[in-house]
Amino acid sequence: MKQSSTTARTRGRKPNSTASAQHRTGSRQSAASENSNPRSNAGSTSGNTRTNSSSGSSSSRQNTANGTAREHSHSFKGESPLEKFFLAQLKDIYYAEKKITQSLPKMQEATTTEQLKDAFEDHLHQTERHVKRLEKVFQTIGQKAEAEKCEAIEGIAREVDNIIKETEEGTLTRDAALIIAAQKVEHYEIATYGGLVQLAITMQLHEAADLLDKTLVEEEDTDALLTEIAENEINLRAEHEGSQEGEEENEDEDKE
Ligand SMILES: [Fe+2]
Ligand SMILES: [Fe+2]
Repeated sequence: MKQSSTTARTRGRKPNSTASAQHRTGSRQSAASENSNPRSNAGSTSGNTRTNSSSGSSSSRQNTANGTAREHSHSFKGESPLEKFFLAQLKDIYYAEKKITQSLPKMQEATTTEQLKDAFEDHLHQTERHVKRLEKVFQTIGQKAEAEKCEAIEGIAREVDNIIKETEEGTLTRDAALIIAAQKVEHYEIATYGGLVQLAITMQLHEAADLLDKTLVEEEDTDALLTEIAENEINLRAEHEGSQEGEEENEDEDKE
């Protein structure tokens, strides 16, 4: 995945998520305060994300150096309405990431092409790291890591089960459908992480913002990689699947 992610990053990604748009908007705002040239902020999603990330990182480092970050982290009580919401969203995505570690092996097993199988396997390992990273986020704000049922991810997981039931084994149509389901997961994650990064920055939870931003970048890379796999091969081959069968049937009919 490392190689693939790099490829996805190098080639740039498509701005296909409203959620990451929120993140990008926020990034542009924070980047704008540091850079008066708007053109330098008008690049790819990754550019904006990284600008934001590095801005978060550098302020985090600065604040950690003088102890401010630590004070802020320890001052998080989870009591104000915004703190409560932030915590609830963390618990939601913690549940979702754990659920995804259960869904990805099923998706990998059901997949037809090796390329998609590898992508799902790589993202499974990455997702396991996302779970651990979230535990660190809980730790930095002095809260216990807890999961709260996320209905959205449960819904997408049911959709995955239906796709596997309704598509034929060994077909590219199944892969095309699984990619869309996987991208729904990624977009949900991008929405949540994008919003959480911005809230963490607002509440000056710099360590948490840095950690969440790392995951956000990985989710965006995965989304871009899935788009690439779909567009480069799977969708086209899936399109011909039905017509090939149709042609074969017609040929059989002609012979008779
Ligand atoms: Fe994740
Ligand atoms: Fe993901």
